[in-house]
Amino acid sequence: MLLSQHPLFSALKAQAQQAQTLTLAERFRQDAQRAAHLSFRLGDDLLVDLSRQQLDTATLAQLCQLARELKLPKAIAGLFADNRFNPSEQRAVLHTALRMPASRVLEHNGVNIIPAVHAELAKMRHFCQRVHNGDWRGYTGLPIRDVVNIGIGGSDLGPAMVCEALMPYQDKGIRPHFVSNIDPAHLATILATLDPATTLFVVSSKSFGTDETMSNAMAARQWLLNACSDTSSDASNDASLVQQHFVAVSTHRQKVVEFGIAEENMFEFWDWVGGRFSLWSAIGLPIALAVGFERFEQLLAGAHAMDEHLRTAPLEQNIPVLLALLTVWNHNVLGYASEAVFPYSQLMARFPAFLQQLNMESNGKSVTHNGQPVSHATGPVVWGDVGSNSQHAFFQLLHQGTTVVPAEFIGFVNSPYDYPSHRHKLLANMLAQAEALAFGKSEQKVEAELKAEGLSEQRIATLLPNKVMPGNRPSTVILCKELTPHTLGSLIALYEHKTFVQGVLWGVNSFDQWGVELGKKLASGLVDTLSGKAGGQSHDPATQQLIKQIAEWRA
Ligand code: F6P
Repeated sequence: MLLSQHPLFSALKAQAQQAQTLTLAERFRQDAQRAAHLSFRLGDDLLVDLSRQQLDTATLAQLCQLARELKLPKAIAGLFADNRFNPSEQRAVLHTALRMPASRVLEHNGVNIIPAVHAELAKMRHFCQRVHNGDWRGYTGLPIRDVVNIGIGGSDLGPAMVCEALMPYQDKGIRPHFVSNIDPAHLATILATLDPATTLFVVSSKSFGTDETMSNAMAARQWLLNACSDTSSDASNDASLVQQHFVAVSTHRQKVVEFGIAEENMFEFWDWVGGRFSLWSAIGLPIALAVGFERFEQLLAGAHAMDEHLRTAPLEQNIPVLLALLTVWNHNVLGYASEAVFPYSQLMARFPAFLQQLNMESNGKSVTHNGQPVSHATGPVVWGDVGSNSQHAFFQLLHQGTTVVPAEFIGFVNSPYDYPSHRHKLLANMLAQAEALAFGKSEQKVEAELKAEGLSEQRIATLLPNKVMPGNRPSTVILCKELTPHTLGSLIALYEHKTFVQGVLWGVNSFDQWGVELGKKLASGLVDTLSGKAGGQSHDPATQQLIKQIAEWRA
């Protein structure tokens, strides 16, 4: 049965208006223990506080019951066993296997896949050791100093986000770089800072056929070969040069070999790992190179801890489940169209972009597993940026705009950086925003303040409506002890599972992405038109006008 057809959903819908009118201030007055009643912990380093959401424990219990009736427990069990959760691509969904200990058994098509996972991890470890200890050298005999990941989407966003988040752990003498965009500015500006003799390229592509990635990889290969032909007399052996400076991460062995990368320099993953869930596989190689393989293992361990929590915790205490149910409550029941995430950490600047792919590519769907149109909203718009910067950019709308945006604040108590007063201010700002959103500032309070300032009656009348803050705007606070590889692993897995659970509740396939294909196809035809080759495609009038203008303006 679909979410929107379930009587429990109708019962929840019937509560919506009352839930929005009962203020958060009133809710806290009614239950002095509300903060504790609506806070959930994982281990002793992660706390999730839902007390500033427009619901109470009774509503959460109803949402959990709805999840039970939509067979969520069975789906969760399925995520840790062989499954066919991606029927449109005829694939299983088994990314949790990537962080399972070697002792576990997970059979896929009758074969235990855990040994293959650990064999690939061992290969990554060995390769990282060789790069770190200078055993793996470039064409002039110098050790590798820069690693350039060439990939896009899931083959870029995860590793790029994690490398930046773990910058304080980058102590291996390797600088990671990420080239994704087909805009030549991306590749060119990064290559301009690099020495080809000490640069290693990791070509990351599940399909090894994504146009942006392959175009950038070919251009990088040419850059290397050009540089060698300028400096080396023995540049004739292009193949061995490429093999010294290029490795690949893919599921497509043959295409990798055709590119010129040696088979032994290819790191494999499997079709049961979705691109946006792949940073735990060899797609995470740049992470392991930048922070060391042991830290990469800690990242996996953090994710595994969250997996075990999802697998074993009762729904009422299950953090990813509760976050997913909260989206159902805010989006489907209360009608809020987007949700925003604000990491109060500069190191987590890429996290909102990572979450956008994870959640919107997964749940931006409008048909069910059986191809039936859904009769309820699915994925909300997910957006965000870092605090405290966001406060000085768009928080005005969150506080006083006509659109209510449920917000998720993510804070870290400890930091390896000095400047203790900065750190206090950072957390103080996060707490202040959540408090201001929830409780606002009443007319009486604003008026009393303005009177105390000695303003005239007329000036007060003008200012008053502008300064009143409505409050009652929902937010969640996720508080972590510190941004370590382990915590980060747990946090990412938390959002992966939130996405998965949402997909189960909405009845959609969270693991395909057919919607991006049409644009790719049209772009490939338009390349021919723009590059002056006879274009076979006919285009709509708006496109034709733009093609004409491009031709006129082209330098
Ligand atoms: O275009 C979307 C997409 O297929 C993503 O799902 C994927 O992460 C990205 O492109 C890159 O794909 P690949 O790893 O095959 O190059």
